[in-house]
Amino acid sequence: MSGPVPALGEATRAAAARLLRRCDELAAVSASPAGVERVHLSPEHARVNAVAAGWLAEAGLTTWQDAAGNQWGRLEGAEPGLPALVLGSHLDTVPDAGRYDGILGVVTAVEVAARLAPHRAALPFALEVVAFGDEEGTRFGTALLGSRAVAGTWLDAWWDAQDAAGTTLRQAALDFGLDPARIGEAARRPEELVGYLELHIEQGPQLEAADRALGVVTSIAGARRFAGRVVGEARHAGGTPYAKRRDALVGASQVVLAVERLAVETGGIATVGRLQAHPGGVNVVPGLVEFSLDVRAEHDATRDDLLARIEEHARASCAARGLAVELHETHSAPGVACDADLSASVVAGIAATGDEDPLRIWSRAGHDAMAVAAVTPVAMVFVRCADGISHHPAESVTLDDVGRGLDALEAAVRDLARRRSAEV
Ligand code: GLV
Ligand code: MN
Ligand code: MN
Repeated sequence: MSGPVPALGEATRAAAARLLRRCDELAAVSASPAGVERVHLSPEHARVNAVAAGWLAEAGLTTWQDAAGNQWGRLEGAEPGLPALVLGSHLDTVPDAGRYDGILGVVTAVEVAARLAPHRAALPFALEVVAFGDEEGTRFGTALLGSRAVAGTWLDAWWDAQDAAGTTLRQAALDFGLDPARIGEAARRPEELVGYLELHIEQGPQLEAADRALGVVTSIAGARRFAGRVVGEARHAGGTPYAKRRDALVGASQVVLAVERLAVETGGIATVGRLQAHPGGVNVVPGLVEFSLDVRAEHDATRDDLLARIEEHARASCAARGLAVELHETHSAPGVACDADLSASVVAGIAATGDEDPLRIWSRAGHDAMAVAAVTPVAMVFVRCADGISHHPAESVTLDDVGRGLDALEAAVRDLARRRSAEV
């Protein structure tokens, strides 16, 4: 960084305090009283959409909920009907979540639109804000359902995905008041859009280590996720000699250890986040284990190589114990490069806050931007979060960094508007 960063203005400090209050307000809309949990097409999803719609209307935007359950607002530019620059992120959460993952991007986008509303006549594009309804995939296993509907990459097979209670995505959509037959109406056409800018907490420690508030994202890692099963045989825990045991949990444990070792060896990232032994009796050798597997890397080829090694190891180590292992793919997203031209505006936006050579980071986490990239160019700004902690209630950001993120996103939009106006 070149020299000390200037102090935040009073107006930005007040706006940042409002953004933090709004994150707190949304965090109170939770399915679990003890923490934050808000999944796709739930009553909590409907409630936060209504709250966001209220903020958008107050900022002077026209609002609507699309056929996939995403909440939108639109501010016309210099003339009605111009292609839109979209700002946004997601409002759904993982189980026992923090209060900023996705949410900070939405509330900041609303605030940027409110700041630019009085200047709309100078905008060579419309400005839209979107709050996506499913980025995490917590409820149905398949992630990015909101943004993939918008990108027009929806797959009808997803309608049969089930949540833990056996409710299909189709039924959940109907219960939410959506018509599955109209999902195509959520898709946007490339010619309607200028691009998509997403502000998000970093969810990693690089900004903190570099003593920076903000960073620009170069690319987003594509994840593949699987529902796995190790199948053995349930038997009496006392009477069954070891030579006769086909213990699915011991086999699954070997797989979990190999997942970590192979990820470190290949430079990829792989995680078993969920593991359940059946039948779950204290005196029964586990006959079946269900587990999840998430595999990602900076480049898809590295990720796929890691996956192949995990599969090979799992089959061999399970076979040696008389166990079968199955992997069923539930989610796959290709890695995505951020657009150079839009990213130039993000860099200019960050520079306007005093950091003239922002840190460039490839995102280990998935984001709606990676789905939206199928329909329009995308770019992202990262905001520092304490100790890089995310997907945890301890997720935390400072008022100062939130203010800088707000100023940078607004300045990025203004930079793009200036450059586009100069072109016409
Ligand atoms: C989303 O948060 C992901 O990277 O899994
Ligand atoms: Mn997340
Ligand atoms: Mn997120």
